[in-house]
Amino acid sequence: MLRVGIVTVSDRASTGVYEDRGGPAIREYMADVLAGPFEIDARVIPDERPIIEATLIDLADQSECALIVTTGGTGPALRDVTPEATEAVCSKMLPGFGELMRKVSLEKVPTAILSRQTAGVRGRSLVINLPGQPKAIRECLDAVFAAVPYCIELIGGPVFDTRPERILAFRPKKW
Ligand code: MTE
Repeated sequence: MLRVGIVTVSDRASTGVYEDRGGPAIREYMADVLAGPFEIDARVIPDERPIIEATLIDLADQSECALIVTTGGTGPALRDVTPEATEAVCSKMLPGFGELMRKVSLEKVPTAILSRQTAGVRGRSLVINLPGQPKAIRECLDAVFAAVPYCIELIGGPVFDTRPERILAFRPKKW
């Protein structure tokens, strides 16, 4: 069974100053796009690098989430450290994810260049950073999701499919 980890990284959402809207938006996105059954493990945590790292490690190694999506903490502000935490716990980075997500986001907002979002692999888990703005979630995931099932297959995770009318998962033909 595919397990998806969702991490809302936000000082304010984690202390209840405002309601977490990013986590639910990612949950909704998964329900919309994934073809088969899946389970969610969702966390809301502050912008503290050790907590982000421990959460990512727990979701990958203990919770065995094949896909882990973070939202928030990718900008240039002092407390934005999600990409650093991601890089610290991943053995391999996949910079193409960030490049493509910034490209599509830039068509929507000029401040998209402020996001340092990236992606990486820890064990059999793919970690993808998204900006904190809930609107960015669909825009960014729509851009990269066609490559996500194949990526997870390549790293030894479960084989799963997307609903083709939403996202057509791409798997290169073997020669
Ligand atoms: N990308 C999209 N698609 N939509 C947005 O509104 N906001 C930008 C950028 N990327 C945005 C976006 C802004 S204003 C910032 S500061 C960075 O993402 C980082 O956001 P974060 O610090 O909440 O992660």
